[in-house]
Amino acid sequence: MAVRTYKGKIMQGKFIVIEGGDGVGKGTIVGHLRKSFPEGALIYTREPGGTEVGEKVREILLGCAMLPATEMMLHFSYRPELFERIVLPAVRSGKHVIDERHIASTYAYQIVGRECNHLLPGFLAMEHILGEIIVPDLYIYLDLDPKIGAERLKKSGKTLDRFELEGEAFHQRVRKGYLEYFKNHRSIIVDVSRDIAPILQDVEEIVRKETGL
Ligand code: TMP
Repeated sequence: MAVRTYKGKIMQGKFIVIEGGDGVGKGTIVGHLRKSFPEGALIYTREPGGTEVGEKVREILLGCAMLPATEMMLHFSYRPELFERIVLPAVRSGKHVIDERHIASTYAYQIVGRECNHLLPGFLAMEHILGEIIVPDLYIYLDLDPKIGAERLKKSGKTLDRFELEGEAFHQRVRKGYLEYFKNHRSIIVDVSRDIAPILQDVEEIVRKETGL
C-alpha cells in the first residue's frame, strides 16, 4: 500500500461523511466536490452501497418493504465490508474519503424516524463494534425543512424510493434524529435552504479546511 508522507511523518487521510434527509441536494453537492478536487485526492463512496455486497444490500433495502429491525440490521450488515476494505485502507494510505451517509442515518431513520426506541441498545452495540474499525473525522449535515425537501423531490421528477415516499411526519422525525445525533458527534451543520452557489462554496471550503487540499 502506498503511504503518503510529509516531512517524514505518515499522513492519515480524513474520513468525511455528508449527511442529510431526502431532497436536500446531496447528489449535487457531491457532484460539485468531484469537480473541485483533483482526481484521486478524494475517494467517494456511499451507504447503503460502496462494495459489491453493499450495492446488493442497497437494492434490497430500497426495493422491499420490511420490519424496522430488519432494516436496521441490513444497514449494519454491509458496513464491515465498506470500512475494512475501502475506507480504512484509503485513509491509512493518506487518501481522504467522502462517504454519502453513515451511521447517523441509521439513528435518524431507523431509531427516531421509525419510532423504534427499543432498537437503541442494538444500535449502540453495532455502532460500538464498527467504531473499533473507524469513526468519521467529520460529519457535514445538510439541513433542510423536510417540507422543502419534499417539494424539491417532486420538482425533480425522479422515481422515488420507499424512504422518499414516507410522509412529512416521518421526515420531520428524521431531521430531529439527526440534530440529536450531531450534539454528540463532530459535525458542521450547513443550511441548504439557501441558493445553491453559497452552499457549494461553503461545503467545498469545509472539505478544504478539513483535508488541507
Ligand atoms: P440515498 O438516497 O441517500 O442514496 O439513501 C438511500 C436511502 O436509505 C435514504 O432514503 C435514507 C435511507 N437510509 C436509512 O434509512 N438508513 C441508513 O442507515 C442509511 C445509510 C440510509
